[in-house]
Amino acid sequence: MDASELDCIEMDLFVQALQKRHGHDFTQYAPASLKRRVHLLADQLECRSITGLTERMLHEPALLPRVLEGLTVPMSDMFRDPDMFRALREQVFPLLASYPHINIWQAGCAHGQEVYSLAILLEEAGLYERTQIFATDLSDRALQRASEGIYPAQEAQQWSRNYQAAGGRRSLADYCSAGYKLLKLNQRLRRNVTFAVHNLATDGVFCEAHVILCRNVLIYFSNTLQNRALSLFRDSLVRAGFLCLGARENIDRSPVARAFVPFSEPQRIYRLASHLDDIAE
Ligand SMILES: C[S@@+](CC[C@H](N)C(=O)[O-])C[C@H]1O[C@@H](n2cnc3c(N)ncnc32)[C@H](O)[C@@H]1O
Repeated sequence: MDASELDCIEMDLFVQALQKRHGHDFTQYAPASLKRRVHLLADQLECRSITGLTERMLHEPALLPRVLEGLTVPMSDMFRDPDMFRALREQVFPLLASYPHINIWQAGCAHGQEVYSLAILLEEAGLYERTQIFATDLSDRALQRASEGIYPAQEAQQWSRNYQAAGGRRSLADYCSAGYKLLKLNQRLRRNVTFAVHNLATDGVFCEAHVILCRNVLIYFSNTLQNRALSLFRDSLVRAGFLCLGARENIDRSPVARAFVPFSEPQRIYRLASHLDDIAE
């Protein structure tokens, strides 16, 4: 048996152990990138092999948050890919303006930068008071960080540029306070945000959403899991609701694509097709 076959066996056992011991299902993640992250994690935790990592994960429950963080890459930025936020501000928000109440589901929110970016744009559009944002992630630890809204201050300049590129009307400094090497988002931006654990691989429909944002998450999934997540989004959207996937992801090869029509092609914003014709705009 060669080394790569052995590697596959170790990976299978690791994924099984994670599921059986902790209930987290990674069986449908794209194998090549999952394997890369498991190897990296094993190195960082100074395990000699994936089997060594599996053993520690089985016997040290406190290691789980670290393992999940290593496998899921909770990286984000304020106003990441500003063109997407500009499209939301200029094309989507005007169509939401007539709704008395707006639900937004942000799936895979990582450390929350996208949530605060959304809250700022909604505030500037005069829509925030009637909006509820549900920000979900499979990782408890990521959600804890997201609800704190504290980030390294070294990011501030880039985030400020992103905010302006997204069409920001004020200064990003108006929405945060800077302390020693840290930047804290104003907690009032959180007033209509609910953070909750939700796993796109195993959980069901989440809420009746007018907008769903899920960026840089589906790329980690196999086609089967992508289809599952997209079906959840389809079933969670109100009629003519918006699905925002961002420039790196698309639904073209999924059977679920039939349920959507493109709304903003470059930003991969789609609209739930059913009853679209009935909507007077
Ligand atoms: C790279 S971050 C993307 C963050 C943000 N959406 C952005 O684009 O900046 C991916 C996030 O997806 C989350 N994630 C991965 N698999 C998930 C799943 N099955 N269910 C829910 N969230 C998941 C990870 O925990 C991580 O926080």
